[in-house]
Amino acid sequence: MYAAFRSIGSYIPQNILTNQDLEKMVDTSDEWIVKRTGIKERRIANADEATSDLGYKAALQAIERSEIDITEIDMIVCATLSPDYLTMPSTAAMISKKLGIKNVMAFDISAACTGFVYLMSLAKAFVESGAKKNVLIIGAEKISSIIDYTDRSTCILFGDGAGAAVISATEDKNEAIIDVLASADGNFGELLITPGCGSVNPIREDNVNDKLQYMKMAGNEVFKVAVKTLTKDVIEILKKNKIDASEVDMFIPHQANFRIVEAVRAKLNFPVEKCAMTVAKYGNTSSASIPMAMNDLYEEGKIKNGDLMLLDAFGGGFTWGSALVRFAGKNFSS
Ligand code: UT7
Repeated sequence: MYAAFRSIGSYIPQNILTNQDLEKMVDTSDEWIVKRTGIKERRIANADEATSDLGYKAALQAIERSEIDITEIDMIVCATLSPDYLTMPSTAAMISKKLGIKNVMAFDISAACTGFVYLMSLAKAFVESGAKKNVLIIGAEKISSIIDYTDRSTCILFGDGAGAAVISATEDKNEAIIDVLASADGNFGELLITPGCGSVNPIREDNVNDKLQYMKMAGNEVFKVAVKTLTKDVIEILKKNKIDASEVDMFIPHQANFRIVEAVRAKLNFPVEKCAMTVAKYGNTSSASIPMAMNDLYEEGKIKNGDLMLLDAFGGGFTWGSALVRFAGKNFSS
């Protein structure tokens, strides 16, 4: 049994936060943000929208496009660093409730911006083992809920959104997800961290006053490791599977920063038109960035049935991973 990538869907919140808006909030400029990150605007969910609301809408679209009946979904996993609730219930459980899916395993994973690649690895293993047939995977983020909008080193980077996919069992090897590689190294944990509200710094007045509930990042240090690791990942997965870069139809790296994506793309010689680049309009949406980018390409007709996609991600933990995936869904029609 193989695991096939059957469908993609996304949800993009309507509210737009522009660089000009941020200029009024912190000491920054549109020029600095565009030059250093490539970001022009990002989406922000409504106050009454939870991460599971974003994930639910992306999931519904992915299920509809999969041509699999919703009753056949037998596992739901959500990757998020901005869950509905800190400990429980899981965001995946909330999404299952909104979808009306009962009696299936539903849980979250924590792998920051590499979340969607980790989900691919999980779904592939569950399907290939025969344990599950139709796994719904979701990367959903309301990162605005853990951002300090007085901290210019983070608030200019991140945005909200969600992406989802259905991974299904198939006997056709030509449809199979080829490979997923994923790793972590906790020694880098403190460089990209939300220090508060967990067991180390519990929710207490002093910790909240110190703003430990918000994300902190040593941006420049993260940047250097990100470029190196993302490049190494791609070389490794292509070599392991004896696939030449020229055979890849679409390279879809995590959208953290235009400079990071461009450095990796150029080093690996992927043509510009074969590289996803959505960071200008969505910013960094962590676990949602790869499926949101993939969905845009799908709706533009740039990802079709049989196309070979190469995913590449890096994030807090540090975590990193890459995936070689054939798109096994139907072609987009509006
Ligand atoms: O998604 C997970 C992985 N995340 C990433 O991969 C993000 C990686 N990091 C980055 O994208 C970049 O490091 C940043 C965009 C965060 C920062 O760019 P940088 O070129 O690494 O700048 P820097 O941190 O070295 O800061 C350069 C200067 C500093 O001023 P001084 O010390 O040179 O006077 C900062 O204080 O830019 C200053 N600065 C800003 N200036 C205007 C930092 N943030 C801002 C800002 N507006 N928003």
